[in-house]
Amino acid sequence: CGIIGFAGRRDCAQLLLSGLCALEYRGYDSAGIAVQSQGDLQVRKSTGRLKNLQDIVSRAPVSGSVGIGHTRWATHGRPSEENCHPHIGQKGRIAVVHNGIIENYAALKRSLMERGVQFSSQTDTEVIAQLLEYYYETDLLTTLGKVLPMLEGSYALGILDVSDPDTVWCARRGSPLIVGKGEGENYLASDISAVLEYTRDIYILDDGEIAALSAGEIRFYGPQGQALEKEPTPISWSADGAKRGGFRHFMLKEIYDQPQAIEDTLNHYIDAQTLTIRRESMPFTKEQAQQVENITIVACGTAYHAGMVGQNLLEQLARVRTHAQIASEYRYQDTVYSANETLIAVSQSGETADTIAAVRKAKNNGHRIVALSNVLGSTVAREAHAVMYTLAGPEIAVASTKAYTTQVLLFEILALDLGNLRGLISERELQDCLRELLRLPGQVRSVLERAGQVEHFAHSMRMCRDVFFIGRQLDYCTSLEAALKLKEISYIHSEAYAAGELKHGTIALIDETTLVVATATQERIFLKTLSNVEEVRARGASILLITDKEIQNEGQFQDIWPVPGMRDIYSPIPATVYVQLFAYYMALQKGCDIDKPRNLAKSVTVE
Ligand code: G6P
Repeated sequence: CGIIGFAGRRDCAQLLLSGLCALEYRGYDSAGIAVQSQGDLQVRKSTGRLKNLQDIVSRAPVSGSVGIGHTRWATHGRPSEENCHPHIGQKGRIAVVHNGIIENYAALKRSLMERGVQFSSQTDTEVIAQLLEYYYETDLLTTLGKVLPMLEGSYALGILDVSDPDTVWCARRGSPLIVGKGEGENYLASDISAVLEYTRDIYILDDGEIAALSAGEIRFYGPQGQALEKEPTPISWSADGAKRGGFRHFMLKEIYDQPQAIEDTLNHYIDAQTLTIRRESMPFTKEQAQQVENITIVACGTAYHAGMVGQNLLEQLARVRTHAQIASEYRYQDTVYSANETLIAVSQSGETADTIAAVRKAKNNGHRIVALSNVLGSTVAREAHAVMYTLAGPEIAVASTKAYTTQVLLFEILALDLGNLRGLISERELQDCLRELLRLPGQVRSVLERAGQVEHFAHSMRMCRDVFFIGRQLDYCTSLEAALKLKEISYIHSEAYAAGELKHGTIALIDETTLVVATATQERIFLKTLSNVEEVRARGASILLITDKEIQNEGQFQDIWPVPGMRDIYSPIPATVYVQLFAYYMALQKGCDIDKPRNLAKSVTVE
């Protein structure tokens, strides 16, 4: 879900709507705004896409210069108008927008209802508005001091109080919230990209903190209501980074951003003059690198697939026992740990609830935490002992592209660095590897130049209902990411299989109607994968091959997409760009809502 808030001297309805537009990728079941207007709260809400809310506001305008807004990804209560935020207390004096989950809301609601409070929605959020009204005393800060400790779970809150019409209040615990400082106006948002147009002076709220924004000032308070001084975090992202440019979809733009994102990331970590890795940017000292015995990588979704690549690379190049695990599993697992454990958490947003929980669990067990994140100051980044940032810029499309390839790139750099520090890769070899790695932006550009071929192939496969992606080792990781990309944006059934595993059951599903996409870029196992390709060919499947190797029997493939020749360890990046394009063009011809696929959200801040 996304939160926006504004306190200034100009009418804010359009600004709130455009902030919500920038946040829509965080949830799009319903949206709403509330504005302070002459001692009253004016509220507009709508289910469905933001467009519906925009229509309502243009038919029934609201006016006022202090307001809050929300775009929702339903957790408690179906996406209906009454469940849509902002929620108002029964006296109409408090409006609340909320990200997160109040776990004890049912008990709180019951006790308020017993005291005569009437509820109008099924959400956990309404409980907060009702509690604030019910326990209101003197002012909102005092009341928050009383009510917030009653809440169990997580929240980022934007609050309006009719008794304090010039102020937007906010508070956080467990869900992200930032405050932006402008000229004679101030902003509140769950996500930096919503305010990039107006300011780069961003304050990141910490857990337990409260802030009050009016046109002329921002006041910060600690959990006990004590005043705090906070320093802004300078942000390098440009407002253009969060715009679609001439592209039809954010996803396509972000696919095409990849050469630049990779180049920026490379420049940050590698000194191209001396062909060395910049020590100050790396998370392991020589001593730590030599001592590390066990690495667990945790992540969700696409970031987990980057973690799978990381597992392969760290074992292969740095010879450290590494295991990639889904964060939601790790957090509840009764794991056996060894001494000197390091946990690497991979998260584009740095706000995924399961990944944060995994980090906290590992921290409680005394493990060293390294974060790989795209968002400066994100929760995962701040909880970690060391951070590597991807320099991908804002990623808006729900389906991750440039964040993924730059995460993979970080693992390439990290594995080379650890391999070198552990005495497995000589300085000379490292220089050769880095020299080649620096060619990656060009290699990715050469894949993008073949977008027409991918589009053409996607068109020929438009009737296809089942796609299997197969590969071994690093190619299996690419297959996992390929299958996820295709299903999340085109809704076409797809699965990834370790090529050698197919024959143990799944091959029963292969027939003349199936498309099998085989990725085969790893010299060591190339022929093994090709044997598996023969097995599916024998069952009538159409086959697309993604490879950097010479092929004898080209005519037997429906198409071949050539990966530029590089070291095998680097192939996952250009190979992935092909499958991103493939998913995109398949979804495009099905007319899918590519940037905002059904049921998904960019950042899942609930368990
Ligand atoms: C959501 C998104 C995925 C993303 C995952 C993890 O499910 O739809 O695209 O990979 O969250 O997000 P993170 O921000 O932790 O990388």
